[in-house]
Amino acid sequence: MSLTRKRVMVTGGAGFLGSHLCERLLREGHDVLCVDNYFTGRKDNIAHLIGDPHFEAMRHDITFPLYVEVDEVYNLACPASPVHYQYDPVQTTKTSVIGAINMLGLAKRIGAKILQASTSEIYGDPTVHPQTEDYRGNVNTLGPRACYDEGKRCAETLFFDYLRQHHTRIKVARIFNTYGPRMHPNDGRVVSNFIVHALRGQEIALYGGGAQTRAFCYVDDLIDGMMRLMATDDGFTGPVNLGNPHEIPVSELADRVLRLTGSRSKVVHRELPQDDPLQRCPDIALARRALNWEPRVPLDDGLLRTIAYFERMLAERGEQAAVAS
Ligand SMILES: NC(=O)c1ccc[n+]([C@@H]2O[C@H](COP(=O)([O-])OP(=O)(O)OC[C@H]3O[C@@H](n4cnc5c(N)ncnc54)[C@H](O)[C@@H]3O)[C@@H](O)[C@H]2O)c1
Repeated sequence: MSLTRKRVMVTGGAGFLGSHLCERLLREGHDVLCVDNYFTGRKDNIAHLIGDPHFEAMRHDITFPLYVEVDEVYNLACPASPVHYQYDPVQTTKTSVIGAINMLGLAKRIGAKILQASTSEIYGDPTVHPQTEDYRGNVNTLGPRACYDEGKRCAETLFFDYLRQHHTRIKVARIFNTYGPRMHPNDGRVVSNFIVHALRGQEIALYGGGAQTRAFCYVDDLIDGMMRLMATDDGFTGPVNLGNPHEIPVSELADRVLRLTGSRSKVVHRELPQDDPLQRCPDIALARRALNWEPRVPLDDGLLRTIAYFERMLAERGEQAAVAS
């Protein structure tokens, strides 16, 4: 065992981001404990890690206390897409709030460093662009997205109260739209939606005309940012925005996906869902300065890797991609 080997726990480790994080931590020589209740996470995401003597997967719901010994905790457990977090909104809030209390309690007891996967959703439908970390947000507390947005806001509060009250070693990352292989095919998020529909030759739905903008960060870049944040001195807690500041209209994303897949899918127009933000873009000056981090993977490259993943997934399910060869 190397002197720098750490015991690292990743909650939500079988999910999209968590599985990439587990993989990367193992590659860097750490012992990884993946904790997940498999609500949206899949065993397939971590199947290739099972058998590695430094990897352990544990089925556990973080709304219940957990007693383990680790050096670092990445708290990612929480459904992240509207279809999933609105499926059982009470459980979503519980996962963010009670889950944070349980994980912070654990970190406090064992003196571990703990990083919270917060979200750009805490800014709600923002009235300033791009969003800096000191912007306090514009969240509808009563809407269908509030279970996620307010749960994550309360989790941030808990992190900073544990810091003030118990001197727990905390880090808070505010993650913006991230995409890549292992996204859930039915999560309704715009990148996976467009790609899967394009590959199947199904209609691509543009909500509200597609003029609303988004900025997309490739998963490898995001994981790199989270690990840099975890490695900072105890004096640096964040919150720090992690995301890609290069903003594009959603209609341009549709065009790119159609071009890169060679799909002949039709684009159709639908009404914008309630509380869907019109614009979302991170200011990453703090991440650049404090973490020496910025996204590096160009959008087309990341999309091609994600398309290849979904092509393989559809093929394994016996579905032929309905695109021009
Ligand atoms: N992907 C993004 O663009 C994005 C953006 C902002 C924030 N985030 C945050 O990053 C984290 C991971 O997101 P993701 O995209 O990988 O989502 P995901 O749904 O793929 O992963 C979440 C994981 O948490 C697990 N989980 C849910 N509730 C749990 C519970 N109570 N106990 C244990 N495990 C539980 C799920 O089974 C899943 O494996 C989430 O906290 C999310 O809020 C993601």
